[in-house]
Amino acid sequence: MIRQATAQAHPNIAFIKYWGNRDERLRLPANPSFSMNLGALRTIARVTFLEEEGPDALVLNGVSVEGPARDRVEAFLDHVRRMAGHRGRAVVESQTDIPTGVGLASSAAAFAALAVAAAAALDLPLSERELSILARLGSGSACRSVPPGFVEWVVGERHEDSYAYSVAPPEHWALWDVIAVVSEQPKAVGSSEGHRRAATSPLHPFRVATAPERVARCREAVLRRDFDALAEIVETDAIWMHAVMMTSRPPLFYWEPATIAVLLAVRRWREEGLPVAFTLDAGPNVHLLCPAEAADAVARRLEGVPGVRRVLRSGPGGGAQRVSNGGTDRVGIGRIHPEIQVEQR
Ligand code: DP6
Repeated sequence: MIRQATAQAHPNIAFIKYWGNRDERLRLPANPSFSMNLGALRTIARVTFLEEEGPDALVLNGVSVEGPARDRVEAFLDHVRRMAGHRGRAVVESQTDIPTGVGLASSAAAFAALAVAAAAALDLPLSERELSILARLGSGSACRSVPPGFVEWVVGERHEDSYAYSVAPPEHWALWDVIAVVSEQPKAVGSSEGHRRAATSPLHPFRVATAPERVARCREAVLRRDFDALAEIVETDAIWMHAVMMTSRPPLFYWEPATIAVLLAVRRWREEGLPVAFTLDAGPNVHLLCPAEAADAVARRLEGVPGVRRVLRSGPGGGAQRVSNGGTDRVGIGRIHPEIQVEQR
């Protein structure tokens, strides 16, 4: 018997960052984190479990993939197979409109969609919380792409209680992420290796110890839709994470000259009265958060900053969800879909 299901998920941008693990294998994080799903971008995963045993197959945007990416998917599906008592191999077909090399963690959307699709294909009746826990085993930040909107990942003590939940739905606040792409090169050191290095930084214990307070302030700012309070805490947290990266052994420098130009410009624009704040993930591209009504002005001003190659934008998005198996054809995945506004320079 063939068991098949399809699901979609959005990537997320962290306001308070996940950096470093207490348990690397289970991806139990060193600190709590907070994020917003990005509704304009998405990944769709179709999983087909067969009766025969053997290696899993991974097809990304129509291209068959071998090596570490396939191995990571197989290791993830082994968890699902164990939970369901199924031994057969799987074929995973994943399509995404997240542009590669723009520093958006595509693994978050991919493993969130995969968790929902794989559980559905094997008839595992998992709650949203259990799906978030499962997605976390594939990629830490994937647990935050399972619930909708504005999301908090609670650290937890054990595997069973480290999960993400929705603090507010996407409709709660029309907050936009305007992404300044300054480089499209694949990063030299990926997040998984970066998490490993975090503990070698003398600043790491301080960042971890003070993260719960930053998450609480971030949660409050989001619930009150207080942009100024959000701007202050989000920028502080991003700078702290990059300070940890730069003081790790060996150090991780993700910034490029254009990164700094954007950071300084954002501070200037805010002093001039434009509501905008920056954050950065493990890469040189800068995410500019702003209320929806400021997004045009922010994108326009970014065009004047030397080194900004293109600008993407997204508002808040929903959680990971199952779609019909034919859904992949209907939404035309693999193409940039109309909601996403890409300004190429
Ligand atoms: C800097 O979730 O990509 O984007 O668990 O190894 O897949 P893995 O790491 P990942 O790490 C995300 C790091 C970050 C911050 C964040 O999204 O919280």
